[in-house]
Amino acid sequence: MPTWIESITRSRLWRSFFRHGWPDNPLDRSLVMTSNIFFHLHPVKMNRKSLRVTYSFGLGVMVVIVFGILSLTGLLLMFYYTPAIEHAYSNVVRLQTQVPFGQLLRNLHRWGAHLMVILVVLHMARVFYTGAYKPPREFNWVVGVVLLLLTLGASFTGYLLPWDQLAYWAITVGTSVAGYAPLVGSQARLFLLGGPEIGQEALTRFYALHVMLIPAAIVLVTSLHLWRVRKDGGLAANDAD
Ligand code: HEM
Repeated sequence: MPTWIESITRSRLWRSFFRHGWPDNPLDRSLVMTSNIFFHLHPVKMNRKSLRVTYSFGLGVMVVIVFGILSLTGLLLMFYYTPAIEHAYSNVVRLQTQVPFGQLLRNLHRWGAHLMVILVVLHMARVFYTGAYKPPREFNWVVGVVLLLLTLGASFTGYLLPWDQLAYWAITVGTSVAGYAPLVGSQARLFLLGGPEIGQEALTRFYALHVMLIPAAIVLVTSLHLWRVRKDGGLAANDAD
């Protein structure tokens, strides 16, 4: 190692950012992995196969990125939207026609939501195709199923918020279907709508679920999911086979 690199990596400034020296030896290489917020998801030693783009296509990571974009655009949409049946639709029309970049903001959120569902399904298909649902990852597969349901729940609850004809009738059909579920059907429908039919109570509930409860649950469950990926030894391609 050239001496100037040595002096930089030994300086107090470098050490305040990075808690390791130049990664040209096994100890510093493993410290790079364990002390970095992004790298520590991976085990210290990895199988080359798991690093190939074509192994996972980075689909899980893409879901995390799209969820980040949805959170940011959703937060900005909250500046213009009121969850009240008299205002919701006109708020959305105003956003699209009068607010600078309003149409772009709304479309980013809407297309992002579609993309997240597609990516989650593709990620699930990849996990299945590579057999990564098998022990010891069967628990993480179940955690993944919870994430799939939460993703679908976020899309479903978001659909009502524009309060246009499409939203109103789609949620009427969706909640009626839920009402036919055995045993808990009518309670589930009542829980979602807050009354016998779609009105202000339903909009308030869908809004609370969409902007608070479901995103908070996605953050929590995704943290558990990623922690399990790490504890199960990284991607399945790392297993000795
Ligand atoms: C919000 C939804 C989800 C997020 C953010 C997410 C995120 C991730 C990430 C970042 C990884 C690491 C590797 C990769 O990129 O593939 C991963 C792995 C994994 N995911 Fe997901 N995931 C989600 C949904 C699901 C679903 C629906 C399933 C299955 C039902 C699932 C099952 C798994 C399993 C078993 C692994 C380990 C894969 C392996 O060892 O090769 N995940 N997930």
